[in-house]
Amino acid sequence: MSAYPFRVIAGQTGIRFRVEPLSSKHDRAAFSRGEAALDNYLHKQAGQDVRKHVAAVFMLTPDGKIVAGYYTLSQFSVELGAVPEEVAQELAKYRAVPATLLGRLAVAKQFRGKGLGERLLVDALRLSLGAGKLIVSAAVVVDAKDEGAANFYKKYRFIQLPKIPNRLFLPMRTIEEMMAAGDPAEA
Ligand SMILES: CC(C)(COP(=O)(O)OP(=O)(O)OC[C@H]1O[C@@H](n2cnc3c(N)ncnc32)[C@H](O)[C@@H]1OP(=O)(O)O)[C@@H](O)C(=O)NCCC(=O)NCCS
Repeated sequence: MSAYPFRVIAGQTGIRFRVEPLSSKHDRAAFSRGEAALDNYLHKQAGQDVRKHVAAVFMLTPDGKIVAGYYTLSQFSVELGAVPEEVAQELAKYRAVPATLLGRLAVAKQFRGKGLGERLLVDALRLSLGAGKLIVSAAVVVDAKDEGAANFYKKYRFIQLPKIPNRLFLPMRTIEEMMAAGDPAEA
């Protein structure tokens, strides 16, 4: 049995998708986001990262083989000096706090614009919140690849870190509130 329960998410496609840890059954070679960095990562690097315990890689799939999207999570640390003052005060009096890095998140070209990016992000936040209860984490951090990607995250209450371009940050307390208020993707 998988260490992670399957999480089924539907989006606006009418197809039932699930999110599950990367395995050899997933057809990674066929995945195309149309952007070399995201495609190459999945084709060449993701398996190694999992084996070396550098990142956890989760696949969005309708059937356990086709890859409709993916995201990665790993441990991280955020210097509070980089965080807006009012947020830093909320967090702690330490120089840095433990965080969860949402390193990559992508939806394959043919599945875009159907609500799956949102569902995948909510899934990543829910998993980070749950994991953060065991291995503490004060926030989820993302490095958006450009301003468009940063705008995607800002829709879900991510805060831009003023000193680091396109690095955004969502306090775990905000995620807790979002989940308590109901899955944003169900709204
Ligand atoms: C960003 C990405 C994950 C969105 O996936 P998607 O399945 O097309 O997105 P959804 O259909 O779930 O859209 C959810 C919402 O985000 C908005 N959105 C999607 N892409 C956006 C972008 N690049 N900029 C701003 N908003 C965006 C949508 O308009 C939608 O808002 P609405 O409900 O108000 O209409 C996808 O385009 C992708 O893989 N991009 C390349 C990788 C990337 O940029 N990853 C994120 C940061 S590294």
